[in-house]
Amino acid sequence: GLKLVVVGGGSTYTPELVDGFARLRDSLPIGELVLVDPAAERLELIGGLARRIFARQGHPGTVTTTGDLEAAVDGADAVLLQLRVGGQAARNQDETWPLECGCVGQETTGAGGLAKALRTVPLVLDIAERVRRANPDAWIVDFTNPVGIVTRALLTHGHRAVGLCNVAIGFQRKFAALLGVAPERVALDHVGLNHLTWERGVRLDGVDVLPKLLAEHGAAIASDLHLPDGLVRRLGVVPSYYLRYFYEHDAVVRELREQGSRASEVAAIEKQLLELYADPALDEKPELLGKRGGAFYSEAAVQLAASLLGTDGSVSEQVVNVFNRGTLPFLPDDAVIEVAASVSSAGAVPLPVAPVEPLYAGLIAHVTAYEQLALEAALKGGRDRVFDALLAHPLVGQIDLAEQLTDRLLAHNHEYLAWA
Ligand code: G6P
Ligand code: MN
Repeated sequence: GLKLVVVGGGSTYTPELVDGFARLRDSLPIGELVLVDPAAERLELIGGLARRIFARQGHPGTVTTTGDLEAAVDGADAVLLQLRVGGQAARNQDETWPLECGCVGQETTGAGGLAKALRTVPLVLDIAERVRRANPDAWIVDFTNPVGIVTRALLTHGHRAVGLCNVAIGFQRKFAALLGVAPERVALDHVGLNHLTWERGVRLDGVDVLPKLLAEHGAAIASDLHLPDGLVRRLGVVPSYYLRYFYEHDAVVRELREQGSRASEVAAIEKQLLELYADPALDEKPELLGKRGGAFYSEAAVQLAASLLGTDGSVSEQVVNVFNRGTLPFLPDDAVIEVAASVSSAGAVPLPVAPVEPLYAGLIAHVTAYEQLALEAALKGGRDRVFDALLAHPLVGQIDLAEQLTDRLLAHNHEYLAWA
């Protein structure tokens, strides 16, 4: 069987992943699942539930837990990264201080996303380096946000990595349900950057049915995304819900100022989840986990790992984060884009993408430039680099605003940034 390692295995999300591993064991036969986390107590709790989930579903694999990354990755076939530096408390700050400047407070979009990138990139690169030393053939699957910037960091440092998000699989499942067909028959013409994407086509057995979907279900699709129905229908394209942070930025800021942060909501859910997980009688993922944003993560992870490790013998089409390498000709080759790719044991190769309309290409190029500067700031540090990345961001763009945000970002992240 395969050896799979989950870094950040003490996450309350882990039971979602383990449930998928158990259900889909035929396509991904895991012999040993290793959960790694520095939070020992929490890891034991999650590890216990993971074992009970495997046992209930008759999974023959073992689940081990450890705080020792080096021991964990030794001989690993794949390493999944799902860590969160500073936990929900750090996220809460990312979602809060940008609002003081009239900017969206969000874990991956805008200034909060930059803070998260700065905290995360050095740690992820350190982990990846240790994975490579232990086993240069291991695949790294990155769920760690901000996935676009983190994956770009991994790939530019030569790691065998693919970035993954559940937005695309979420749309695939949703469209399949609306069409009343099995999800495997539905493929997406998905284009953009992680958390900045548009569905420009929905292929059912190879035939584009997006116009029909929008004609029949446009209002429901738009209302789910909190976007104007008329606009979505007229464009004939389905943006991800993250586009609302751009298209309705000021309205979102007003809403966020009225409500508590998502981080505080999630912290409350996590507290309840941990209480449930502690019950030795619980041997499946609880319904409450559905209140988190990670629906279908495990399916996406299993599909991706199975294709990368060649265990289901297939070349499959999946939406992933990869080097651009000419796919979107208006971006640098080393930009990381999120598109449909052909995935096999040779890696993920982006499928050709039809020319991107200026309405989307402009924003994609703008945010790509921000991501490049964000990565430089994360790698090299320094106030000026943080400022430049913010000035380059389409949701910031003004000197005074970038100054204010830079001050706040640094003040709130001193303890995480070696150079600050
Ligand atoms: C979706 C996104 C993830 C994000 C998550 C947040 O799954 O694709 O990148 O981390 O939502 O969910 P949460 O429950 O933490 O708000
Ligand atoms: Mn995501």
